[in-house]
Amino acid sequence: MSLTPTRADKFSFGLWTVGYNGTDPFGGPTRAPLDVVEAVNKLSDLGAYGLTFHDDDLFAFGSTDAERQNQIDRLKKALADTGLVVPMVTTNLFSAPVFKDGGVTSNDREVRRFALRKVIRQLELGVELGAKTFVMWGGREGAEYDAAKDIRQALERYREAVNLLGDYVTDKGYDIRFAIEPKPNEPRGDILLPTVGHAMAFISTLERPELVGVNPEVGHEQMAGLNFAAGIAQALYQDKLFHIDLNGQRGIKYDQDLVFGHGDLQNAFALVDLLENGSPDGGPTYDGPRHFDYKPSRTEDATGVWDSAAANMRTYLLLKERAASFRADPEVQEALAASRVPELSVPTIGEGESYDDLIADRSAYEDFDADAYFNGKGYGFVRLQQLALEHLLGARS
Ligand code: GCO
Ligand code: MN
Ligand code: MN
Repeated sequence: MSLTPTRADKFSFGLWTVGYNGTDPFGGPTRAPLDVVEAVNKLSDLGAYGLTFHDDDLFAFGSTDAERQNQIDRLKKALADTGLVVPMVTTNLFSAPVFKDGGVTSNDREVRRFALRKVIRQLELGVELGAKTFVMWGGREGAEYDAAKDIRQALERYREAVNLLGDYVTDKGYDIRFAIEPKPNEPRGDILLPTVGHAMAFISTLERPELVGVNPEVGHEQMAGLNFAAGIAQALYQDKLFHIDLNGQRGIKYDQDLVFGHGDLQNAFALVDLLENGSPDGGPTYDGPRHFDYKPSRTEDATGVWDSAAANMRTYLLLKERAASFRADPEVQEALAASRVPELSVPTIGEGESYDDLIADRSAYEDFDADAYFNGKGYGFVRLQQLALEHLLGARS
């Protein structure tokens, strides 16, 4: 298996990722701005296939139409020169002061109307560039104070916004879908739709739920102490994994946006195994972009930026290779069977069996030996996980 990224690997990067200049709440930039043409050229040379962007990444908030068009033209030329594509776009509803209390859920109705117009403008550009996914990350859709936000009404306005956008793309006949990106907090004290589960529950209330899925980010679920690979498994199960943001996070703290794998490596291994190979019984895999939403650390210079971009892709490919070796190991297959992992695919109730049959089945209750699990029958999960770890570490091949 090659560790050199190719277009077929579908690696994409946000313009705001490699373009991050190192600014944080405690200090100014540590790197000069990155021009979009250089970003496209460098990413192409490194083997990526796609670039994604917010409107404000490409043309500054408040740009004139001519300034905006000039940047779009420069991007289009760079895409044509390199063959890079734009699989996803998104709108910045968080940087400008006007969005302090949110975009589509601001208490100020005029701000909400302005936000929707900004979204539609970027949606049009995305469609023009061939994007198939429109990400909605509501970093400022939330609150710090319980008294300040009527959460039920905020959700109602969120719903109104996504329903309107669904009508819009349907009426226009656009081939694009929406992906909501959950995050528990930051910049708001609490953000609406904080986890994959909240977002999927919200999606089920929409008028066109089939048009809307999720864009989970590794670090965002881990900021909430959740198991990212498990959340992705549920998103795949519900056919809602429309896009994914890969990065690294070390525990419950601020959003670190580290390089993929530079956080919880065992969960990253489980994730790549799931995306590439599906669940052990061969359930659905993911064939969309492998999108990196990381921030090159503030300590890095320009060389470090491109080294870190390459590191994301190389780590993904290394994990993919390790996951293949894990799956192919006969001892792993034997350990999976010993742990009864495949048995979970067998329905609990037999075909044609009714609840009356279950109740009449003495072996299910009266004669069932529940004590066999005390001081007996272990599942062997530790052995299985150690085998996974040894493949991850390269101790088995
Ligand atoms: C974050 C988010 C953002 C969004 C991006 C798309 O790190 O908090 O991941 O980077 O993904 O802004 O709108
Ligand atoms: Mn993040
Ligand atoms: Mn993200």
